[in-house]
Amino acid sequence: MLRRLIIQRPCWKRTGYFGSAVQPSLVRLRSTYLSQPGAKVTRIKTEEELAQERLEEQLKSESRFIRWGAIARTEKFTKGMTKYLIGAYIIFLIYGLYFMRKMYAKEKELERLEAKRKEGQANEYEELRIKELRGKMRNRDKLQLAKYRALPHNENEDTSQFDGITLEKNDENITNRKILPARDTTDFYDFKAAEYDEGVNFEEKAIFMGSRRKWLMKHCQGDILEVACGTGRNLKYVDLSKVNSITFMDASEKMMELTHNKFRAEFPNFKKAAFVVGKAENLVDLAASGDGQGVDPETRVKYDTIVEAFGLCSLENPVKSLQNFEKLLKPGGRIVLLEHGRGTYDFVNKILDDRAEKRLETWGCRWNLDLGEILDDSGLEIVEENRTHLGTTWCIVAKRKGDLKKNSELGFVEKYFGSSIKSKIEAYETAGKSGSPKAGGDSDELPRK
Ligand SMILES: C[S@@+](CC[C@H](N)C(=O)[O-])C[C@H]1O[C@@H](n2cnc3c(N)ncnc32)[C@H](O)[C@@H]1O
Repeated sequence: MLRRLIIQRPCWKRTGYFGSAVQPSLVRLRSTYLSQPGAKVTRIKTEEELAQERLEEQLKSESRFIRWGAIARTEKFTKGMTKYLIGAYIIFLIYGLYFMRKMYAKEKELERLEAKRKEGQANEYEELRIKELRGKMRNRDKLQLAKYRALPHNENEDTSQFDGITLEKNDENITNRKILPARDTTDFYDFKAAEYDEGVNFEEKAIFMGSRRKWLMKHCQGDILEVACGTGRNLKYVDLSKVNSITFMDASEKMMELTHNKFRAEFPNFKKAAFVVGKAENLVDLAASGDGQGVDPETRVKYDTIVEAFGLCSLENPVKSLQNFEKLLKPGGRIVLLEHGRGTYDFVNKILDDRAEKRLETWGCRWNLDLGEILDDSGLEIVEENRTHLGTTWCIVAKRKGDLKKNSELGFVEKYFGSSIKSKIEAYETAGKSGSPKAGGDSDELPRK
């Protein structure tokens, strides 16, 4: 927009070259100077010109932020950025396609291997590869897989080339001499019972174990079994409004006495509670012979939730005990464990190993066990596995083999992109045929296979 121009020129030139016809409108044209010598025209600048001047000033500014801001507004920069963004977008697309292809190939391989496993024909390498594809490798699996890959083999998809080959195991719990053999700790805990609570209080407070115990007990609903309950340290976190019956079990009579006294003091009116002295290794036999008194025989032998805190480290046979838990679990039930064992880092494990003997003497537990190996050997299916305190505290939710996960337990990827989509589609299709509106729909528990 042009504004009014001011014409400065001597009076005698008023009728000069242009004669008296010089009109302000003519001078309003672009030139700064009139053609008459000495006649200077100053005009007010356009908005664009002012902006350009401002930009140039800012490009010379002392402040680097103002300078960078100005550079980002220059035409050269904007054009360069556009090219760069288009390039990045193309790279992103290519990578995305490559990634999807890889995912698809993995999914196909997994499907093929699992079909083989279902027929009972998968070799050890294939079992390990299934774990690798599912991202569920333990340390020993990584070592074993590396051994297989070090063998002379063809780099093709034919994994049956490893048929008939079985390599020596490298289980941490067997090969590590600092992991002491399991033992019967009943007498130890009978002796320790009176001073147990006082002894562990400080350690637990220092690492906020209360919040973990709370996490453990919030899973309790329906008929509950707490194995290796000790002195009843989890009692204050249980919400009995969600509980139908609760059975406590421990090998040590003295520890159990403390749980019993605490429970009766805390919940004097709760009738469906049983207190069983016995070993987790004999759990199935105990449940069948009816030693758990006070609980309806129909519900006594199967539980909705089986919980255990810091028990695996003291049991004589943790794998067998976990297998017993599975046998006593109702369909859709959950085993919830709060345990301690080997950590995520070597330096932590070295500390645990070096003090394993002292720990066993003081607390009767093997705190350097590889719990991953124990869990895998038990055959339980892990729904949730979280580890804290440098990986030494294990928070596990597990289910019976073959039970489906609840909707609330599915992760985002699993829910929307994982192979579960396939099973959900199948569930919908089956529901469509059978006319059941619930299958694969809103039900919290997905239908059992
Ligand atoms: C480290 S204490 C944990 C106690 C309690 N759960 C807690 O969180 O404080 C281990 C408990 O396991 C019990 N225990 C040891 N061996 C057992 C077995 N074979 N079956 C059942 N309980 C056992 C001990 O008596 C002891 O009470």
